[in-house]
Amino acid sequence: MRAIALFAVVFLATFITNQSHAQDAAAGEKVFAKCKVCHVADKDQNKLGPSLNGVIGRTAGTHPGFSYSQAMAAAGKSGVKWDEPTLKTYLHDPKAMVKGTKMAFAGLKQDEDIANVIAYLKQFSK
Ligand code: HEC
Repeated sequence: MRAIALFAVVFLATFITNQSHAQDAAAGEKVFAKCKVCHVADKDQNKLGPSLNGVIGRTAGTHPGFSYSQAMAAAGKSGVKWDEPTLKTYLHDPKAMVKGTKMAFAGLKQDEDIANVIAYLKQFSK
């Protein structure tokens, strides 16, 4: 009986965790509508901005075939890599983190939007 109860708890916990993860990415897809004019994430394709396919874990300013600003290339050379903390800072206020970036985007003001859009981007990164 005990084992069954434990199994039920574990099963439920897994189910709930998966649920909330899915929701984050789904909410993130809506946030990504703001990025879509310039970025593609589900394919490796540059538009006005570099492809965000596989962006998590990538060094800033290094996607092949995209002409980055000097500022973004320099950020990469100084060691900026895109992960949760760096994306959080950048997406909150791109121009504050990478002074001189040519990404013409004011930033996302809601922490929740940022977390969700990162969850969305993670789906297209290894
Ligand atoms: C108006 C067009 C535009 C919009 C909107 C925009 N971006 Fe960008 N983004 C760019 C450009 C251009 C660059 C390259 C910046 C540079 O070289 O300084 C860039 C760079 C980036 C980078 C760095 C990529 C790399 O390869 O180093 C990330 C991450 C990023 N954008 C995420 C986003 C997200 C997420 C959104 C939406 C919340 C967004 N961007 C909205 C144009 C845009």
